[in-house]
Amino acid sequence: MAKKTKRIGILTAGGDCPGLNAVIRAVAKTAMHDHGYEAIGFQDGYYGLTVDKWVRLGRDDVSGILTRGGTILGSSNSHDPFRWACEKGGKIVYRDFSGKALAAYRRHGLDALVIVGGDGTMTVAGKLMNLGMNIVGVPKTIDNDLEGTDRTFGFDTAVTTATEAIDKLHDTASSHHRAMIVEVMGRYAGWLALTSGVAGGGDVILIPEIPYRIESVCECLKGRSKRGKRFSIVVVAEGAKALGGEMVVAKHDAKVPDPVRLGGIGNHLAAEIEKRTRLSTRVTVLGHLQRGGTPTAFDRALCTRFGCKAMHLVAEGAYGQIAALRGDEVISVPIKEIAGRVRTVPLDHGLLAAARSVGTCLGD
Ligand code: F6P
Repeated sequence: MAKKTKRIGILTAGGDCPGLNAVIRAVAKTAMHDHGYEAIGFQDGYYGLTVDKWVRLGRDDVSGILTRGGTILGSSNSHDPFRWACEKGGKIVYRDFSGKALAAYRRHGLDALVIVGGDGTMTVAGKLMNLGMNIVGVPKTIDNDLEGTDRTFGFDTAVTTATEAIDKLHDTASSHHRAMIVEVMGRYAGWLALTSGVAGGGDVILIPEIPYRIESVCECLKGRSKRGKRFSIVVVAEGAKALGGEMVVAKHDAKVPDPVRLGGIGNHLAAEIEKRTRLSTRVTVLGHLQRGGTPTAFDRALCTRFGCKAMHLVAEGAYGQIAALRGDEVISVPIKEIAGRVRTVPLDHGLLAAARSVGTCLGD
């Protein structure tokens, strides 16, 4: 009897980020090229796995996508097979549809499923493993907040986008006597704000890990004015908060697994700064611009390494692992060790020390 061709499934879940297509390409190409597997992709993350919405991923399907932003498979951050939000009598009720996800996995005769996502996605991946699925993960997010890996893919591109925006704001800020506030994403971690802030020469950088004192921020801005500086740039993470205060929440959405949507700190800060310093202040919220665009060369190379590693792990039967970067080496880390954990910026991180050394105000 002819031996059955082995088959993997791939899905991309959670918020999208640059490099997802590069990972899909690397996984599928390595599957076919090195290991003789077939590949299929579930569409729109866990939604596709649960309702069995899928596409074949042949060589032609994954060719020419290395440089493309977004994901050819689609993604969703509002579907969890274990806690599926349904409307009943005008109310939201949650159902466990994980049996449907397992049925789809079995129906396709999958040997393993490669799941590309962040911490929320990996928490669900851990539960799917408990149902008996063979899973390997790839760490994605512009927030760079996943435990177990020095870098997530997509972060470098988002940093580049945010830095370019800060550079442009420098130009216009220097034509006027203004404080320019740039609100960047990053959720509960300050990696994106800190890295783009340092790279863009921000005068004030505010991150969730260091609650700020508005007096300290205003002193810095007034000091710059006194020294004849015509403008200031304030880079603020969406999760930044005043000492003793709360993060600014744009919206609560009970239907999605992570119901808190951050946003609004930039405008809040602008109002405080204008009131206390009388400096003319403008706000730019970079928002989802940071999630789009072609991945940087660094991210393309990282995605390719992560995707190849994930597929090699599948072929070795090393399930329950996530590809991770440690120094310059791509290693593997157990998914269960990183699921649901957030990696914030350590207060002794070298980039914080460097920011202080060049005179950047960190709000404390
Ligand atoms: O996790 C990536 C991220 O872009 C965060 O930085 C941000 O808080 C969140 O997703 C925004 O999510 P949404 O796409 O649901 O608005």
